[in-house]
Amino acid sequence: MEHKFTITDSATGKSVDLPVQEGSIGPPVIDISSLYKSLGCFTFDPGFQVTASCRSAVTYIDGEKGELLYRGYPVEQLAEHSTFLRVAYLLMHGELPTQDQHDEFTHLMGYHNMMKESLNRFYTGFYHDAHPMAIMVGVVGSLSAFYHDSTDIHNLRHREIAAHRLIAKMPTIAAACYKHCIGEPFVYPKNSLSYVGNLLHMMFSVPTEEYVVDPIAEQALERIFILHADHEQNASTSTVRLAGSSQANPFACIASGIAALWGPAHGGANEAVLNMLEEIGSVENIPKFITKAKDKDDPFRLMGFGHRVYKNYDPRAKIIRETCHEVLDKLGSTNDPLFEIALKLEEMALKDDYFIARKLYPNVDFYSGLIYRAIGIPTNMFTVMFAIARTVGWVAQWMEMIAEPDQRIGRPRQLYVGATRRDYPPY
Ligand code: CMC
Repeated sequence: MEHKFTITDSATGKSVDLPVQEGSIGPPVIDISSLYKSLGCFTFDPGFQVTASCRSAVTYIDGEKGELLYRGYPVEQLAEHSTFLRVAYLLMHGELPTQDQHDEFTHLMGYHNMMKESLNRFYTGFYHDAHPMAIMVGVVGSLSAFYHDSTDIHNLRHREIAAHRLIAKMPTIAAACYKHCIGEPFVYPKNSLSYVGNLLHMMFSVPTEEYVVDPIAEQALERIFILHADHEQNASTSTVRLAGSSQANPFACIASGIAALWGPAHGGANEAVLNMLEEIGSVENIPKFITKAKDKDDPFRLMGFGHRVYKNYDPRAKIIRETCHEVLDKLGSTNDPLFEIALKLEEMALKDDYFIARKLYPNVDFYSGLIYRAIGIPTNMFTVMFAIARTVGWVAQWMEMIAEPDQRIGRPRQLYVGATRRDYPPY
């Protein structure tokens, strides 16, 4: 029997049958595209809590189970056994690379990872105290000025080249944001290093000294990057898709994603968590902050807690928590007072009725900042790290969207509550 929903307008008695579409896993969706034509009404879902905005085969989340799959592979397995570049290839192409494909992809990352010298000079326009995310939005957006005429988004090869350029250049751009803020010379990429090793090299080496990448930092960053690579239709990815749906330049679309990521409710939470832990200051103050988080008259929220989709422990947070223990152990930083506060805060929040009733668990951002801090990455660079890794998801989702045969501009409707028509008064 055909699976459908029948909706009846109680005012007119008119009905419409709405077909149901089944995905490969996850809840079915009701196709409401004929609703306006049939019944003359829209649907209302602020924040898109129950609205599927697209068809996608990239990433799947089961929020109740706390499961995250990239192209079908559980993120835990990828984090343990794969590398960031293999995962990037998987997200973009749908399958893990063969050894030859992997070598070619790695070569392309090295081929595209430098910035044009004139792009380097853009940085001098920013004050040294500019937030690195602000610089990143500007610099990535300005890539579109370099690759506009040469990028035909209707040409698959051009889309792939744009994607390679973006993934390859992001660490170089990010490291330069950092170097600009601390007043050190920019460091060129080195192709003998891994993707994340190269990022560490460009951030922390100076021309006057030999620099050896710390394998503990490299391994931790590799894992964090895998966990951050994609997360289906979150705010920044939806922003990239919406911008891209108008057939805008892909570099400009990714800049719009970076802007959306920056907010503390999204990727900016990793920086906000560290600031919050510092503000809490000691374990004795935790109950006061938990009370504040529960107070509806107080805007304070426990940063790094809660998620729109996960109503269970965020699977990424589980791995990052373990990695945090490992890294702090290996680096001898387990006595970091902020780590102690984080562990205690998590323990107390998870026992609190308010958090239990609302199914609020630590998310990916709760522990990632502590790892970044332990490997020497400054707090205002945390969201930049997230943006480098998420670029892979953004480009994979953008490529998927543009390749759709029935791709249309995204154009939500609204419930208008403003003034009705009125005439301009005489003055
Ligand atoms: N602290 C205190 N209360 C919270 C929190 C929190 N962190 N998160 C949600 N709540 C409460 C909220 O007040 C609401 O309570 P009530 O039902 O009594 O009104 C209930 O839980 C449901 O929350 P919501 O705001 O309706 O949930 P949402 O899906 O709109 O928001 C969120 C999700 C992630 C924006 C939110 O949980 C939040 O602000 N968390 C802190 C910021 C954060 O850690 N963001 C990173 C998200 S994970 C990284 C990423 O992928 O972006």
